[in-house]
Amino acid sequence: MKVIVLGASGEIGSEVVNRLRAQGIEVTAAHRSTGVDAYESTGLSEAFSGADVVVDCVNVTTTSADTAIDFFGTVARNVSTAALSAGVGRVVCLSIINAADPAVNAKFGYYQGKAAQEKVYRESLPADVLTIVRSAQWYELARQMMSTLRLGPVAAVPHMRCRPLSAADAAAALVGAVTTAPGGDVEVAGPHVLDLADIGKAIARRSGSPRWVVGIRFGGTAIRNGGLVPERPDVVTTTTLDQWLDAECAA
Ligand SMILES: NC(=O)c1ccc[n+]([C@@H]2O[C@H](COP(=O)([O-])OP(=O)(O)OC[C@H]3O[C@@H](n4cnc5c(N)ncnc54)[C@H](OP(=O)(O)O)[C@@H]3O)[C@@H](O)[C@H]2O)c1
Repeated sequence: MKVIVLGASGEIGSEVVNRLRAQGIEVTAAHRSTGVDAYESTGLSEAFSGADVVVDCVNVTTTSADTAIDFFGTVARNVSTAALSAGVGRVVCLSIINAADPAVNAKFGYYQGKAAQEKVYRESLPADVLTIVRSAQWYELARQMMSTLRLGPVAAVPHMRCRPLSAADAAAALVGAVTTAPGGDVEVAGPHVLDLADIGKAIARRSGSPRWVVGIRFGGTAIRNGGLVPERPDVVTTTTLDQWLDAECAA
């Protein structure tokens, strides 16, 4: 099996590459500095030649709906076109649980981009080619938010009620979807329902920084009130927040 991982230098893409290689699978790690730009559609045909599976872990950091819709929609269109013309057997796209629900994403531009991504893939690829793996939010997301929304000793994290998991566990589920026969889309979530702002506070307590973490209202009420929480996830991962913190703080 030959697998192309797009977004291979990112938080989850790098983990997916390592896990696939650990299973002896041939992997091409693709991102812009390897000459593959999925938005500009450069290098895709060459990278996809002879591939069995393409995994889309590409990302853009934005809160703008226009930017997110344009980026994720364009990448999905380019990847689909290149995959079909190269005869790639399967495309596995990483998305977010409930992000495509208009009741959830109405005030969350980034999630409107994820909705566009899913829609374009569904419209562009046959059902037996496409697998969408929808993950819940990662513990790492709170840390990313704290570094973005930081002013001196104070960091802000949005109140997001979710069922978080470690990025490593999400990567394992993604690898499972790559290596097993497609059986429809997959939802993967963590062991407990938590507020992302509380995860930020727990990280700050363990690491000693930042000094204060404040929970903020951002992205609409559905995000705060459980709209992101899956009813019956297909995969429930086991790493708890405390276990993840133990590993992160020991590292
Ligand atoms: N954070 C969460 O809690 C969470 C939960 C569920 C799902 N997800 C999804 O997981 C995916 C990956 O997120 P992440 O946080 O791992 O991403 P990330 O760390 O921001 O990494 C993004 C990757 O995309 C690559 N990239 C960006 N623009 C590109 C382009 N035009 N062409 C090719 N590669 C490009 C980057 O490499 P270069 O910049 O070198 O090109 C990098 O390898 C996203 O789709 C996100 O929605 C995230």
